[in-house]
Amino acid sequence: MTGGAPEARARGGRKGVALAAVGAQWGDEGKGKIVDWLAVRADLVVRFQGGNNAGHTLVVDGEKSVFHLVPSGILQPGTVNLIGPGVVVDPRVLLRELGELEAKGVLRDPARIRVSGRAHVILDWHIALDKARDEARAEAAIGTTGRGIGPAYEDKVARRGIRVADLLDPAALRRAVDRLAKEKNFELTQLYHWPAIDPEALFEEYVELGRRLGPYVDHTGRILEQALRAGKNVLFEGAQGSLLDIDHGTYPYVTSSNCVAGAVCTGAGVGPTRIDGVLGITKAYTTRVGGGPFPSEDTGPKGEWLGERGVEFGATTGRKRRCGWLDLVVLRDSSIVNGFTSLAVNKLDVLSGLAEIPVATAYRLDGKLTHEFPMTLDELARAEPVYEVLPGWDEPLTGIREYGALPANARRYVERIEAILEVAVDMISVGPGRDETIARRPLFGPRG
Ligand code: IMP
Repeated sequence: MTGGAPEARARGGRKGVALAAVGAQWGDEGKGKIVDWLAVRADLVVRFQGGNNAGHTLVVDGEKSVFHLVPSGILQPGTVNLIGPGVVVDPRVLLRELGELEAKGVLRDPARIRVSGRAHVILDWHIALDKARDEARAEAAIGTTGRGIGPAYEDKVARRGIRVADLLDPAALRRAVDRLAKEKNFELTQLYHWPAIDPEALFEEYVELGRRLGPYVDHTGRILEQALRAGKNVLFEGAQGSLLDIDHGTYPYVTSSNCVAGAVCTGAGVGPTRIDGVLGITKAYTTRVGGGPFPSEDTGPKGEWLGERGVEFGATTGRKRRCGWLDLVVLRDSSIVNGFTSLAVNKLDVLSGLAEIPVATAYRLDGKLTHEFPMTLDELARAEPVYEVLPGWDEPLTGIREYGALPANARRYVERIEAILEVAVDMISVGPGRDETIARRPLFGPRG
């Protein structure tokens, strides 16, 4: 969809591109690397959901940076990076990341990062409750990142949350903290036998955090609207992935926000008619951290091999990721829910050296073949992946920059994904570095 010809004419003919880049699996698809790469042409990079449960690893000139809250466009000079109202913000984490960026000389102008005053704040209570509850779930633990994400979203939806703008208004913050204290401490101490959190100390600390965050707080929706009107290129950066989406994922083993492309509209504050394309980001295989179903998981030596080759450890919690094969049933579901117009396939290089590569194309459920991703956990537990086995390749891919230079079987692998999903693979990543990327079709025009 486009903003429409009359509007483009009114802007003097220039129509920037508004592109959503979202995870197609269970998160950790390598969105940060792709967003960083695309941000060379983006004027604005916008986070719209999630919080510091995300971990985006970027490698530029051999130097690794991990961000949890700051959008991955920050390392590209000339971008403005927004944290939209749909994000939950831990002010300590954000200030730490901003401090590191300032120390590295990457962030000289606070105007390069803007945080919505409407975004909700993660408080110490949320972090403690997140951990206490997941511990209490014992074997049924979701394996959350323990960053307070779920409890913060709960308070938002229950209409008792604290927003970034409240941090700048001590009187409002005082009232909100007092409102929360009784209930939160009751739950912590009585239900989980955790120590209470002193509301007075919390208030004092968050007033100070608000004071430091003040120069970055803004009406991000307005900045976004102005950029779209001016024909700028806008990149919306998803966190987590489609299968971790609260409505469309493997509930309850999901995160507490919507992470599909539709969440761009609500989480950033932009109408669906303004989004031009949706880039689905997938690994060339599949990983998952935390509990929950994962039909194509390989718990044997091959899965172990994938984990070692792919260095599959969480960027946020350092946990070892569960590994398995590419699951096209998952990706088909993801493609429908997100409306992918393009795909980026990451870590294709990791598969070099396998004689054969299985790819799940269907499931067998109660004796019947299905291409649909099952609805319930019970069905998912009974679903057995049906694999198509594709021939592998031995050559290392990391030095390759042209699609045509890939080994024939690597191309065949990519083209099989395209054929089954009916979506073009426009980007392929062959290593963690910014330049270790094959771009088949430009997704953005020049900056506006
Ligand atoms: P939460 O988002 O911390 O509540 O965790 C809920 C589930 O989502 C857990 O299984 C986490 O491991 C998973 N999760 C949350 N964020 C990410 C991410 O950025 N990548 C991968 N998994 C994630």
